[in-house]
Amino acid sequence: MKKLIIEGKHELSGRIKIGGAKNSVVALIPAAVLSDGICTIYNVPDISDVHRLIEMLELLNVKVTFKDETLIIDNTNAKNNEIPSNLAEKLRASYYFMGSLLAKYNHAEISYPGGCSIGARPIDLHIGGFEKLGAKTSIKDNNYTIKTNNLKGADIFLDFASVGATINLILAATKAKGTTRIYNAAKEPEIVNVASFLTTMGAKIYGVGTSEITIEGVEKLGDGIVEVIPDRIEAGTYLIIGSLLGKDLVIEGIIKEHLGSVITKLNEIGCKLKINGSTITVNKCDNLKPVKVKTLVYPGFPTDLGQPISTLLTQCEGVSLFEETIYENRMRHIPHLNAMGANIKLDDKTATIKGKTNLTGKKVEATDLRAGAAMLVAGMIAEGTTVISNIEHILRGYENIVDKLSKVGGKVKIVEEIISIANK
Ligand code: EPZ
Repeated sequence: MKKLIIEGKHELSGRIKIGGAKNSVVALIPAAVLSDGICTIYNVPDISDVHRLIEMLELLNVKVTFKDETLIIDNTNAKNNEIPSNLAEKLRASYYFMGSLLAKYNHAEISYPGGCSIGARPIDLHIGGFEKLGAKTSIKDNNYTIKTNNLKGADIFLDFASVGATINLILAATKAKGTTRIYNAAKEPEIVNVASFLTTMGAKIYGVGTSEITIEGVEKLGDGIVEVIPDRIEAGTYLIIGSLLGKDLVIEGIIKEHLGSVITKLNEIGCKLKINGSTITVNKCDNLKPVKVKTLVYPGFPTDLGQPISTLLTQCEGVSLFEETIYENRMRHIPHLNAMGANIKLDDKTATIKGKTNLTGKKVEATDLRAGAAMLVAGMIAEGTTVISNIEHILRGYENIVDKLSKVGGKVKIVEEIISIANK
């Protein structure tokens, strides 16, 4: 088990380069399977989810090289195979192989995906969409078998603008006969990134980034090429940390249009952000103002930054409200923040945060990826030392986090906790 040891209250100055977006690359890699040729993916972050997905590609007899942030994926000898639970359960995004294998082979075998325990996270919208396209799904011991004689274009109305269902149904529809229209589609930038990748292979996809997407099925998909967009959630996390500890901290390699709601909210709080093209310079701000944060689908305030910003709200003078609307259980960091000295009252999915409170370093836990990020922010500003356990969650979504923070003055390190047998 790895732990993160953080010594709080160190000013951060210098440059942090944002890596490729986790929530994009984890869809781009399964999407690459649709190509009958060779795919090149640039700006790939070195995070554990990428390595898990490479293992799944290799299971499909796909040849993969990963060097200098570039993935070369050679499907020349690819063949269908079941994605077993020991791999699929490691991350939620393994379910994108449902859409790509179904489109490529008319058959996908994969066990129920993993992912952060932030709610029930059903996949009914994915399965319902596949059925609309003419696929039949059977489930046995959590293993999904999805089969079709051939996929036919259909009109699909999503009950909820689900990111995963939108991407999975685009993947499945790329080679379906005829036209597929997805209504109430999600509009996240990561979906646009995936669609642009598929278009280079020859897919015909229109309207991505809006709530109505049209896909004209094609017979064959050839070589593909794409660059992973910068990770807006990683960028937002560092902007939050910079608002508390920054001294001309430069966050570089961002797409500011993807951070509209985050920049607006941080400005409302009184954070000092200087935007210049693809960089944002952030400075610590003392008199932070209380605000209301409500997470929504894109372009609303992203649910993945709800937990990290709730730590910032503990430093605002006054009463802030943080409401999570996307997941049922994304408040598991609150008790840990309160143990460090925060004053947060939780009522179902709304947290009332009374600031400004001084936080003191404690032993805490990363219960999920973004809760871990919230604890990281807390440790960076707390008096003394904070020890975060279960940081494997954090390492899934934040590339080289110790290196990036240490380089700008952060005092953070990872230690391996040897759990002695005697303790068991
Ligand atoms: C993606 O998850 C991201 N994960 C999540 O990031 C992100 O929080 C989420 O989109 C929303 O932006 C990846 O891209 C790998 P959804 P996804 O389908 O696709 C319900 C992180 O921290 N729903 O938009 O699973 C679902 O239960 C992670 O990086 C159904 O009910 O999100 C949830 O309440 C966490 N049925 C809501 O919709 C379905 O079939 C949003 O889910 C699908 C989803």
